[in-house]
Amino acid sequence: MRLSMPGVKLWWMLALLVAPVANAFTDADAVRVFTFARAQLADTILELPSVNRSPKASLSNGTWTTVANTDRIAWTQGFFPGSMWFMFQVANEPYWRDRADMWTRPLEVQKTNTETHDLGFKMYNSYGNAWRLTGDPYYRDVLLTSAASLATRYNSTVGIIKCCDWNPNWNIPLVTDTMMDIELLLWGAQNGGPAVWRTMAVNHALRTLQDAVRTNGSSFHYVDYNNNGTIRSRGTFQGYSTTSTWARGQAWLIYGFTMVYRYTQDARFLTAARRVTDYYLANLPADRVPNWDFNAPSQSKDSSAAAVVASALLELSTLETDATRRTTYRNAALAMLDSLASPAYLAQGTNSPGLLLHGVGNYPAGQEINVSLIYGDYYFLEALLRFNPRPNYPWYSKLNLPRSQHLLGTSNTGVRIVEFDLTPLRDNLGGGVVGWTDSSTEVTAFNRLNMALRMSEDGIFQVRNGAGYSWIRRVPYVRGQTYHFRMNVDLLAQRYTVWVTPPGAAELLLVDRVAFRADGPPINDLGRAAVISTVEDSDFRVNNHRVYAPTASVAAALNAPVPLPEALWRELDAPERLSQGPVVPSER
Ligand code: GLY
Repeated sequence: MRLSMPGVKLWWMLALLVAPVANAFTDADAVRVFTFARAQLADTILELPSVNRSPKASLSNGTWTTVANTDRIAWTQGFFPGSMWFMFQVANEPYWRDRADMWTRPLEVQKTNTETHDLGFKMYNSYGNAWRLTGDPYYRDVLLTSAASLATRYNSTVGIIKCCDWNPNWNIPLVTDTMMDIELLLWGAQNGGPAVWRTMAVNHALRTLQDAVRTNGSSFHYVDYNNNGTIRSRGTFQGYSTTSTWARGQAWLIYGFTMVYRYTQDARFLTAARRVTDYYLANLPADRVPNWDFNAPSQSKDSSAAAVVASALLELSTLETDATRRTTYRNAALAMLDSLASPAYLAQGTNSPGLLLHGVGNYPAGQEINVSLIYGDYYFLEALLRFNPRPNYPWYSKLNLPRSQHLLGTSNTGVRIVEFDLTPLRDNLGGGVVGWTDSSTEVTAFNRLNMALRMSEDGIFQVRNGAGYSWIRRVPYVRGQTYHFRMNVDLLAQRYTVWVTPPGAAELLLVDRVAFRADGPPINDLGRAAVISTVEDSDFRVNNHRVYAPTASVAAALNAPVPLPEALWRELDAPERLSQGPVVPSER
């Protein structure tokens, strides 16, 4: 796009505004927030009365207000399951998949709901993430039915998805929020639904751009139309005034135009995304979290708008065709995340059950002011995953076997290399285990693990070998030190070799081609890891767990024996080797 001179000036002001804190936000910050999110979401699960209600806004007593999943007009029920799907993405733990699914399925009743424009919020964030992360066609089918319901709200004269039947003062209205809902139509058109859903979404976005966005890039919250398609009125519902810009409404536009551009590659939407973004960035305060309305005299920050925009700009920065803008948008997003993850906004150490403090639901109505909002939390987590889709999230050991498990997928067959870092967090791990088994094996007892690395009561690393444990060298584990492990796993031969690199030392062979557990379950793939404590939760930590196929030359070399000193071969091959080891409790 060719910029006019004033545009260029504004542009450089924007670049300067966001430059000083560029890249302050790090992977470690993201992991810190996910670790907090894990605890907050797990507590919320315990607090909720049933899977039929979802949290919405925090109360001063440290609990959530909740919304029935059957509520047809409410718009927020998809965010709690969606947040748990994000936790599943981060940690690969069946625990989170199961909880996310438990709060997703009750929303199926909404799939035929034609009374609301907010089916996108409800269904795409719950079922959409479920489909994305599991590929289960059940979720896709519910999404397609939901999209068909949303499409019934299309008004072909105006070319919009009509909102807000509950407001008797409006005739055929749109709100900027609906830009989020139309992702359900765009996704549906790409996933088996009729192409006309895409046309509806594109028309809606174009009409929103034409009528809700002012020339300076600010926005009205709503536009209401006459039956003949002319504008009846426009103004605000949740913002300050007809001429003001409601911060979250603007955030929905930034996210929405970016998302429509992702689906369509239509340059009009990139231009639209730039316009609404540039207005937003030029009017931000120093901490990058806007007041609830850009023009309101009353001050109350809305962290939810900041979270929505952070997520949107991380996407826009990847789609942007102009290199300078790419950098500016990314740096702006990182500065927003930095602010949101700071003590000023992160709820850590407060009594809030949410992640972000200082959100505003509906200021003019006096509702949900200066609270945590489940949707702010959702977009915050989404932004962190757009920052890094595979954060280096630690697996903390768990006493509870179902909660100790992590899914590795079903494609790890044949010969595989496994690498990971392990950090003992206490001196005696009491026989804590990292174990591996088939994707179809639920770990209900230690003997469900075909392979296992054990931190013995004697303070050394040991490896499961047939009926017991063995080791070539006594490598002690020391609290707070991080050990790197590398394993060659031959699933057909049911044998594996393990090396360990202690901190500051060279790699050592720990065991060579030892056997899988003698009485283990059937195994075809390396589909599941379990990180099990025997003393207390979180008494050791696994990071950077990777499973991958060896290159052809490495695979060939794996079949050749590892040259070892003769003495070690003798030790390894001695029939009494296993019985010379420590007494191994059969359940580990
Ligand atoms: N979609 C309603 C809101 O943003 O508050």
